[in-house]
Amino acid sequence: MANFASVSIRVFVFSFFFGAFKCQFSIPLKMYPGKFNLSSGANSSSVRVLALKSDGDGLSLASDPSGTVNFLDMVNNLQGDSGRGYYIEMSIGTPGQKLNILVDTGSSNFAVASAPHPYITRYFNTKLSTTYQSTSRLVAVRYTQGNWEGELGTDLVTIPNGPNGTIAVNIASILSSDSFFLPGINWQGILGLAYPMLAMPDSSVEPFFNSVVKQLGIPNTFSLQMCGNGLSTSSVVDPPAGSLIMGGAEPTLYRGPIWYTPIVEEWYYQVEVLKLEVGNQNLNLDCKEYNSDKAIVDSGTTLLRLPANVFSAVVEAITSSLPIDNFSAGFWEGTKLACWTKGETPWEFFPKISIYLRSTNSSQSFRITILPQLYIQPIGDLEDLDCFRFGVSSSANGLVIGATVMEGFYVVFDRAQRRLGFALSNCAMSNGVAVSEIAGPFSAEDVAADCSGRVLKPPVLWVISYALVAVCALILIILLLLLLLPCRRGDRGEITDESSLVRHRIK
Ligand SMILES: *[C@@H]1O[C@H](CO)[C@@H](O)[C@H](O)[C@H]1NC(C)=O
Ligand SMILES: *[C@@H]1O[C@H](CO)[C@@H](O)[C@H](O)[C@H]1NC(C)=O
Repeated sequence: MANFASVSIRVFVFSFFFGAFKCQFSIPLKMYPGKFNLSSGANSSSVRVLALKSDGDGLSLASDPSGTVNFLDMVNNLQGDSGRGYYIEMSIGTPGQKLNILVDTGSSNFAVASAPHPYITRYFNTKLSTTYQSTSRLVAVRYTQGNWEGELGTDLVTIPNGPNGTIAVNIASILSSDSFFLPGINWQGILGLAYPMLAMPDSSVEPFFNSVVKQLGIPNTFSLQMCGNGLSTSSVVDPPAGSLIMGGAEPTLYRGPIWYTPIVEEWYYQVEVLKLEVGNQNLNLDCKEYNSDKAIVDSGTTLLRLPANVFSAVVEAITSSLPIDNFSAGFWEGTKLACWTKGETPWEFFPKISIYLRSTNSSQSFRITILPQLYIQPIGDLEDLDCFRFGVSSSANGLVIGATVMEGFYVVFDRAQRRLGFALSNCAMSNGVAVSEIAGPFSAEDVAADCSGRVLKPPVLWVISYALVAVCALILIILLLLLLLPCRRGDRGEITDESSLVRHRIK
């Protein structure tokens, strides 16, 4: 009986998790100010064309100019700036309506404005598209501050600086929103690049990139270079940019080897963090702390976000190595800026931060390191002062490798082989000096075999668990109904992730 009781509790926890999961959803967006400094442009003589005769799994590169996917045509296809988001141009509907679409690896819906709004200059007029088909299914996403609601439909889309071809995709047409579109933005929609599990209202809504891979036959991989790392915003001349390469990795965008870490679960891009170092000092926390309740790589989150314990340890380690002692706590909390006399950069005072990720060889790891230039971020100037903010924040829902870190690296989302690759980005430079480092392999023998918090069980135990779960099926169904019904009302999703668009937006 006691046994049964504990099983029902477990079932309840499972169903509660499932229910909660259905109701929660995060659209974190990349919002980080800075100046673009592309130190190494694409060499147009080295045209790389993907050989599509590959089995669709590889990153096979060939110099066959008649191929379908020319990566160099996709270089610098992202525009905008990190403060207001990176976006790619798309042509939606028939005839095509050109819109700018924000790129986000932390969500899975393709959603575009379909009604006028004071802060956007254009919107997708579904009535003018002969190929738009409505499903009359509603979808709504709510944030801590802001939300949008719309209708699910399908239409044809082409990406001028993407793979050649027209794709039939699911589109959530945003009919009303609150605090989603904000003043000064130059995008009108969002491209969620994560897995179906995060799609709203449910995973039957095939995400955009899944459709691209299926219909154009390109390899199931994309890669992202974000080039907004911070030089003073006051001297911005060229618009920052970046590249979203669909179908593989473009060698002119990175240097050195690509280091791979497995994707732990396919929902967000979840990875396993083994260790953190500040300066060369290991924080020495239990590795599960780094992954509680998950660790994800998310282009849409502005900052490097750390679970509260880890965050405190990082702040403490930085503070103790800092030769400045009058730092207000508000700086670390993100409520205050730190300002220095113009021309005096504070970076030399701050240590490097390193994150160790599990290698695909699970007994090894590699580390990605960001210099202070990436996490002490120029954010504006005041008369004769340059002001900076702390690019790391505390998180109640897991570790997020956001733009602060990603801007140091070329990140390959190798979905085909269920792994993420990191290489040194060719645009992660400040005054000719690299602001990121990558090194390995290191032995992972000193950490637990699994830091990710997954429950690892031998198969026999799984069978027993499932049998017991089956006994409780009735309870489960009742609980699920109770939990899902309130969420399904209007297919509304509650966003509780503090890294949402609105919260981290810098106006
Ligand atoms: C699309 O096709 C054109 C003409 O064949 C080619 O020049 C171009 O490089 C292709 N673009 C991409 C992104 O592959
Ligand atoms: C994985 O790493 C271990 C420890 O460094 C090494 O002994 C082993 O040969 C590696 N395995 C493969 C397949 O490379």
